[in-house]
Amino acid sequence: MAVLKWLSICLTLFCQGTAASKPCRWTQFRLGKLNDVSIGLLSDMGGLFPLMCAEENVEQMFPEDLYKNTEGEDVYVVALEAMRYVEQLYNNSLTSVTWNKTELNMFQNVIYRQVQNLELCVVGGVWESSGDGWSVTLKTYFNKLNTVLKEKEHSACAWEIVRKEIRENLVQFKKFIDSRVKL
Ligand SMILES: *[C@@H]1O[C@H](CO)[C@@H](O)[C@H](O)[C@H]1NC(C)=O
Ligand SMILES: *[C@@H]1O[C@H](CO)[C@@H](O)[C@H](O)[C@H]1NC(C)=O
Repeated sequence: MAVLKWLSICLTLFCQGTAASKPCRWTQFRLGKLNDVSIGLLSDMGGLFPLMCAEENVEQMFPEDLYKNTEGEDVYVVALEAMRYVEQLYNNSLTSVTWNKTELNMFQNVIYRQVQNLELCVVGGVWESSGDGWSVTLKTYFNKLNTVLKEKEHSACAWEIVRKEIRENLVQFKKFIDSRVKL
């Protein structure tokens, strides 16, 4: 398969070379793979957006150009900040959701692992907003999602809105990572 062949070439020649130039063993390739797993788990754990939540549904809040506005910023810095917000968001009360608990736990674990590994790639690894445009946008966005959860008292439908939003977020995040893989 062409894709597999490309991946193995990438792994042996290019990706490791890129990673080796940083004091970081966490490759963008690995970050992208785990992100794919997260997207799959988010989709699978609850299936389609439930009809019973249709009335409460809101227009997409995710700003499409968020990751496009990170030019010149280190990919690991952006990724760490983004994944930390996701980790925090899913630290809210999840008692009302009816999703597959195994898949939910797996999702939380993948995000946790990404944060742990990214912390090793970012000097200091500290929780510090860079104050740049994208960083402020990211913070504002996650504040909105936290507000949705709070206002709807962490209801199942509030979490469905969050799941839909984070899925879109991770799809855009994936495009961002792919665009930064240097070949
Ligand atoms: C999750 O919540 C607990 C208890 O409120 C807190 O101790 C912990 O630091 C939080 N974790 C994250 C990643 O926000
Ligand atoms: C939950 O997901 C796991 C892993 O995909 C699967 O093995 C299990 O059958 C699912 N449970 C239910 C109740 O669908």
